[in-house]
Amino acid sequence: MSAAVLAGASSLMTEQPSNELRSNELPSRRVSQQRLVGRLMEMARIGATVSGGVDRAALSAEDAAAQALMAQWGASLGLRATRDAAGNFFLRWEAGAGAPLVSGSHLDSQPTGGRYDGVFGVIAALEAVQAMQETGLAPRRPVEIVAWMNEEGSRFAPGMMGAAVYGGARALADILPVRDQAGISVEAALASTAAALPGIATRPLGGTPYAYVEAHIEQGPELERAHCPIGIVSGIQGKHTFRVTVRGEAAHAGTSTRAERRDALLAATAMVQALARVLHDEADVTKFTVGRFDVTPSAPSVVASQVIFSVDLRHPDSQELRRLSALVAPACEAAAGPCEVEVSRLSAADSLAFPAAMRARLRAAADRLGLAHRDLLSAAGHDARYLHPICPSAMLFVPSRDGVTHNEAEFTEPADLYAGACVLADVLAELAMSTGQP
Ligand code: GLV
Ligand code: MN
Ligand code: MN
Repeated sequence: MSAAVLAGASSLMTEQPSNELRSNELPSRRVSQQRLVGRLMEMARIGATVSGGVDRAALSAEDAAAQALMAQWGASLGLRATRDAAGNFFLRWEAGAGAPLVSGSHLDSQPTGGRYDGVFGVIAALEAVQAMQETGLAPRRPVEIVAWMNEEGSRFAPGMMGAAVYGGARALADILPVRDQAGISVEAALASTAAALPGIATRPLGGTPYAYVEAHIEQGPELERAHCPIGIVSGIQGKHTFRVTVRGEAAHAGTSTRAERRDALLAATAMVQALARVLHDEADVTKFTVGRFDVTPSAPSVVASQVIFSVDLRHPDSQELRRLSALVAPACEAAAGPCEVEVSRLSAADSLAFPAAMRARLRAAADRLGLAHRDLLSAAGHDARYLHPICPSAMLFVPSRDGVTHNEAEFTEPADLYAGACVLADVLAELAMSTGQP
């Protein structure tokens, strides 16, 4: 975006209602593309993979290092770092009074994740705060930058644990015993993270923000195809997740007869095929994924005694999603053969729509900056899902090259990251200065 565009936008802003910002108070003028992208690339070194991506599992040493870097950047801006009992990390700009304005996303990644998913929203919020400070704004309320614990759900399932506990949708006691594949519990991993960063104080769990705004990469191709830098997220499609445990019996690959075998792997693959059949949707609206498949003992000459696999099921129509969700357990049971199967539903989130007033704020900010925008539904899940029930919430997207994501090749053009951070900064400034309802 050029200076001319910003100057043009400024001339539109001569007459303002009292609680809106004058053009010379818009922090987008102070957003720095170089600083924003520089920080993103510095963060991408933590957990960097050889193929140019990031492996920063929730509550890992890398996740703690990412928080330490955020705390260091925050300290230079006078922001105080804290963490709650669910492992959510905050940088607070102490200002004004009342409920805080909150913005952020997550710092954890998929095992072969990219450099932008989640982290863009956290670093864009930091950029927005720095731009507000450089503009000389004195917010009417505290502003908090947040990195929610375990959005991705790849180490501990299901994802969005920290945001769900903060928002009250899940109890802390419910997530603490969840174990990763190595048998380490969330409780133990939280303790390791706290031990790695002893300087970060603990804060009370939960709260009710004044408002929440999350910036994120689109993770789909729509914005790029439309040559549109800004997505105004209308809502998030529903998602149900399951863990399926198939129990058979270990046996010798050479000596056991077919009649004797209780092969958990054969049963599990039959279940996956059965699920693919019953959930098949010619229109490709239903999304069904088995992304994890753990075989025990996973030895070439032993009939598998146990398989645990995941089911991730999504659909924008909540009623249809619930109908499909109810088919999962019966389909697995019908394909179990001589094995036992246990189907546990880990999460069941309906589709949601963000409030129109919050979306209108994003649209107005993009218009003021001369940035093209379009409304779109998020097909991916986000932490904002769990803020939506407790405060006015919104999300904005920036394009993802070729829609590639959950992939080391994930990429967003620096100019688009900058555009997203500019819109975020102006909307956060408006909300921080606003006297009324968000
Ligand atoms: C979030 O990463 C999701 O799986 O939608
Ligand atoms: Mn994400
Ligand atoms: Mn993700």
